Amino acid sequence: MPDYQTGFGNHFSTEAIPGALPIGRNSPQRPAFGLYAEQLSGTAFTAPRHENRRSWLYRLRPSAAHPAFTRYQGAKQFAPGLSKEPLAPNRLRWGPLEIEDADWLDSLTTMVVAGDGPKSQAGVAMHIYRAEKDMVDRAFVSADGELLILPEMGALTLYTELGRIDVKPGEIALIPRGVRFRVILPEGKARGYVAENHGVPFRLPDLGPIGSNGLANPRDFETPVAWFEDREGDFELVQKFLGKLWTTNLGRSPMDVVAWHGNYAPWKYDLARFNTIGTVSFDHPDPSIFTVLTSPSDVPGTANVDFVIFPPRWMVAEDTFRPPWFHRNTMSECMGLISGAYDAKADGFVPGALSLHNQMSGHGPDVASWKGASEAELKPHKIEGTMAFMIESRWVFTPTDQALATSALDEDYDQVWSGFPKARLPD
Ligand SMILES: [Fe+2]
Repeated sequence: MPDYQTGFGNHFSTEAIPGALPIGRNSPQRPAFGLYAEQLSGTAFTAPRHENRRSWLYRLRPSAAHPAFTRYQGAKQFAPGLSKEPLAPNRLRWGPLEIEDADWLDSLTTMVVAGDGPKSQAGVAMHIYRAEKDMVDRAFVSADGELLILPEMGALTLYTELGRIDVKPGEIALIPRGVRFRVILPEGKARGYVAENHGVPFRLPDLGPIGSNGLANPRDFETPVAWFEDREGDFELVQKFLGKLWTTNLGRSPMDVVAWHGNYAPWKYDLARFNTIGTVSFDHPDPSIFTVLTSPSDVPGTANVDFVIFPPRWMVAEDTFRPPWFHRNTMSECMGLISGAYDAKADGFVPGALSLHNQMSGHGPDVASWKGASEAELKPHKIEGTMAFMIESRWVFTPTDQALATSALDEDYDQVWSGFPKARLPD
């Protein structure tokens, strides 16, 4: 079982071998045991202090030691080019994708991409993994963005340069941009979502009048302690760079960091620890009240990406239509479901599914959900056994050609908003 250190964005210090971590300096002339000191920066050197993220790694060999990259021929469904065809303003929904005879990396399937992507360091891509093999003697790294991993079926063990993380459905994990890792499937099969954030790193949202506590609390984020493996021999590194995949042979495991310190590191978080806040009087608040993490853009209050969840919670509002209301937004919304059912859709949106409502697309409850909530007796009611999430962006999501071609695409999605009775005006 991996050990963890707690706190979001803390300055951690950890060593797998006593004495490996230098004290009082970052780059001594001769680090302990002949380790190589290496800085990994997640922000510009000169980023404001409260946004500055970097870690110092002490490793068996420098990460620079590898031959040139060549194009990677696997993972054909990962990060394909986007169609030049005009994007229709349609609402879209996909059922769960089937498990593939592949490891985590090769099973990655890109569904939608928002923004200009890695070249402009803005936007977010949604990928789905559906694997049944371990990544053996190979690792992956994205230079294009941090990876927010949301298991939906089956647990994962993430072996990263900075330590090991166990994560299961209901929990999430984050691999920072540039951190090398491989994925093991302890339960044999695994499926879930990956949001690749090309913008500034996720942070906890400001709480404003909520106060100093609430939503995702910093101490519930868990970062692994240093762990390394000393393995020589063929070891492939696949790197995503400007939307393309590249491969090289490291000749050793990249998980060779014996000690590290800093605030740029992977973490995990149990969504059950989210302190959900909602109305105790009337009206459904804007779903921004459910924001777990945010990646700001250069427009204040207008996120490059928000990560929002719809967790189990009490509904107590009086004289209120309690599910999410009908709406059209300037922000674009991509939703998934980890478990249970989502309270704005009676059926058709199952765990592993994905839905897309781009900017100014009218959406909201389906007819059955609207009818049920309109007629319900408004006694306190607990929504249980559910975990839906939303990746929301100021940038419009473009589905990949393969997402539009898959049989998992629901051709009749628009029908969920047909059949609403007309309002009855007075005579
Ligand atoms: Fe919405």
